[in-house]
Amino acid sequence: MANFHRLFRVLLMLFAFSGSVIRTLSVGVGINYGQIANNLPSPSRVAILLQSLNISRVKLYDADPNVLFAFSRSEVNFIIGLGNEYLQNMSDPQKALAWVQQHVQTHISQTKITCITVGNEVFNSNDSQLRSNLLPAMQSVYNALVNLGLDKQVSVTTAHSLNILGNSFPPSAGTFKPDLAEYLQPILNFHSMVKSPFLINAYPFFAYKDNPTQVPLEYVLFQPNQGMTDPITNLHYDNMLYAQIDAVYAAIKAMGHTDIRVQISETGWPSRGDPNEVGATPENAGLYNGNLLRRIESGQGTPAKPSVPIDIYVFALFNEDLKPGPASERNYGLYYPDGTPVYNIGLQGYLPELLYSSSKRNVFSVLSLLLIFIAYGIYT
Ligand SMILES: *[C@@H]1O[C@H](CO)[C@@H](O)[C@H](O)[C@H]1NC(C)=O
Ligand SMILES: *[C@@H]1O[C@H](CO)[C@@H](O)[C@H](O)[C@H]1NC(C)=O
Ligand SMILES: *[C@@H]1O[C@H](CO)[C@@H](O)[C@H](O)[C@H]1NC(C)=O
Repeated sequence: MANFHRLFRVLLMLFAFSGSVIRTLSVGVGINYGQIANNLPSPSRVAILLQSLNISRVKLYDADPNVLFAFSRSEVNFIIGLGNEYLQNMSDPQKALAWVQQHVQTHISQTKITCITVGNEVFNSNDSQLRSNLLPAMQSVYNALVNLGLDKQVSVTTAHSLNILGNSFPPSAGTFKPDLAEYLQPILNFHSMVKSPFLINAYPFFAYKDNPTQVPLEYVLFQPNQGMTDPITNLHYDNMLYAQIDAVYAAIKAMGHTDIRVQISETGWPSRGDPNEVGATPENAGLYNGNLLRRIESGQGTPAKPSVPIDIYVFALFNEDLKPGPASERNYGLYYPDGTPVYNIGLQGYLPELLYSSSKRNVFSVLSLLLIFIAYGIYT
């Protein structure tokens, strides 16, 4: 595996020297690697694709051992996830310890695991049992890491939907929904104590789709526009995502914390949707993600936190054909499962076709492919 990676790097260099354009990301943008699909490439091939894109931060929704093994000795940092269905069991310290031993301790000498999200968008459900289990589960997982001496390497958090905000406008007046305070206050205290980030899934697409006549498309797509000024702070916003992030900072501050970092665990734009999902087009998705990457590349922070570069995991790596819900849900990917980009944002990744196939015929094809690459490097 490591040898293949090295070889691949050499091939990439040959490509680069031969003048072929492979744009990689020079910034630490992360990507969500969702797997609710029946047609995705193997994790080993995905490892090569991500390396060709210079993406070194990946978020999973589970702790899929196949993925974690495939990225052994790679430079990729992983956020792994515990689904909501585990929260009840995880509030039991023994079960949390067993889970961390099996899913973190087993892999961590080979694969970089830096964070565990315990539950995803828990407050989107009205299940009061689930809500009550969230913090105890986070605490048990954290204590398990402490017991195993892994708490300095791996942080513990959960990912929220932006729906937890009761007010988001103007950004400086951001607050959480009042009925969530009883849960969020101790969760914020936990983040503060263990120094872990507060994760939010933020989709300006939803705001646009729900109100396309009121919300200017340019404002949600980071295109030139008048923007808006927060009347309380006088800070000017030229895009909705930054306003959403600052609203979350304000809501956290309203609960007494200025010591917690906000991370965007998901953001993205669908390239396709149902007829009533206004704005879900490849053009808009390309503008949103392309412009977002440029913002990240520039190291820009939000108006309220200009010196804190925004920290983002794009949703998602692939279109996922088995996701339930409206058509947009299956069309957030930057890539089709065969490795071709859904739209062009200047990111030319490389998904190997045959590299890990076991048949002799394919090994032969790989060798031919390598020869062609090398010849290409020499003669151009
Ligand atoms: C790859 O990304 C890292 C940051 O994650 C950056 O330091 C490095 O310069 C990038 N490499 C290229 C070739 O862009
Ligand atoms: C929770 O624990 C019980 C008892 O050990 C087990 O049967 C069940 O499968 C667990 N639930 C999940 C979602 O892992
Ligand atoms: C949850 O409860 C709120 C208010 O009690 C209600 O408006 C909302 O529709 C409910 N959501 C679900 C998913 O049941």
